[in-house]
Amino acid sequence: MRLGLCKMANCLAAVAFGIVSAGFSATFAQGPNYDESKVPCYELPELLVSECGIEINTPEAWKNIRRPEILKQFQKTMFGKYPEADLSKLKFEEISSYDKFLDGKATVKTVRVYFNAPEKTPKMDLMVVVPNNRSGAVPAFLMPNFQGNHTTTDDPNIPAFFAEGSTHNRGKAPEEVRGIAKSRWAYDKIIAAGYAIVTVFYEEIDPDFDDGFQNGVHPLFTNFSLQNGDYPATISAWAWGLSRALDCLETIPEIDAEKVIVLGHSRLGKTALWCGANDERFAAVVSNDSGCGGAALSRREFGETVKKINTTFPHWFCANFHEYGDCVNALPIDEHELIALIAPRPVYVASATEDLWADPKGEFLSALNAEPVYRLFELEGLGVDEQPDPDEPVGTYIRYHLRTGKHDVTDFDWEQYIKFANFVFSAK
Ligand code: GCU
Repeated sequence: MRLGLCKMANCLAAVAFGIVSAGFSATFAQGPNYDESKVPCYELPELLVSECGIEINTPEAWKNIRRPEILKQFQKTMFGKYPEADLSKLKFEEISSYDKFLDGKATVKTVRVYFNAPEKTPKMDLMVVVPNNRSGAVPAFLMPNFQGNHTTTDDPNIPAFFAEGSTHNRGKAPEEVRGIAKSRWAYDKIIAAGYAIVTVFYEEIDPDFDDGFQNGVHPLFTNFSLQNGDYPATISAWAWGLSRALDCLETIPEIDAEKVIVLGHSRLGKTALWCGANDERFAAVVSNDSGCGGAALSRREFGETVKKINTTFPHWFCANFHEYGDCVNALPIDEHELIALIAPRPVYVASATEDLWADPKGEFLSALNAEPVYRLFELEGLGVDEQPDPDEPVGTYIRYHLRTGKHDVTDFDWEQYIKFANFVFSAK
């Protein structure tokens, strides 16, 4: 357990008046705090002590006792239950294949996943990009996109099915937005490094607005009930959808489905972490600028806060999480434990210098405070105690970098993720 930076005077006063839980959130409710000296006093929940006080000091005790407890707490308190549905209704269908992507260096298949066959909807289209120069099944990145598969490339041969459904591009014709997100998709580098990359438009899994959980995959969940504060909310639904994407990849011979890294940016970084925490088939996880509700420690209340995120995006987390807006110190979990749930699989947490809303330092501290679990497995973590300088990646099984620049996914980020993948798959 580490005590965060805090103004000692504030801290002592708060403890003396018994207001550690409630006082600070209220103080900073007016606007986001971007001043490190105003980060409230906090104590992180114990990672390696079980709910009944047992010290967790072996990998077995972590796997059998503590990990299930923490996973359950995240389900109860934050993301809601992990969805359950009738998986016998899943059906996959290849609907197109194009072998001249990237000047003939890659093949793109569009594989349609029907979630409730024989019903045609809900469904999602996976864009599966595989290097043509390969000698067998290849490892892959799975990274959902924000605006439609065809926004990730200028190539007109990539089908543009769903731009009209996008929260980000509502009302725009598919061809108007082709390629607009291409700077985030370093296809050339990924393919040249020998990896496949798979993407899917996240709102095909579940639309990104609050409609009382009527649309998308929610109606398929057998464990969903608004009566309970721990219903599977939208991030849980997206994460579940990515697991179904992995089910599909398991049937594609060009992909080595035991070597898939789930990667997400921003709200989809939160999703990638939650997906990897629940679905241990993923070989590793990358969180790019995931911020509040992702890698950033909730208790720091730096940038976006629990209160703010639940007000702006009431559908992302379950109702129980909304109860903690004014008392984050009462949360039974914090985000270092979300990172720890990935262990012993490798995890990468990335931040950007200008992305203060996502609290880069809080993201680093989560990664740092997850290290005790990796140590149980005798695996090296970050190898540093202080947040590194910009553009100086650190770590082994837990990695971190602070990229110069804005909230984004850039070539620099991809260069690090490719090196990370090289490590992940050579360390096995
Ligand atoms: C908003 C939101 C963040 C989220 C981001 C995104 O800024 O407040 O929590 O990460 O959108 O997904 O782009």
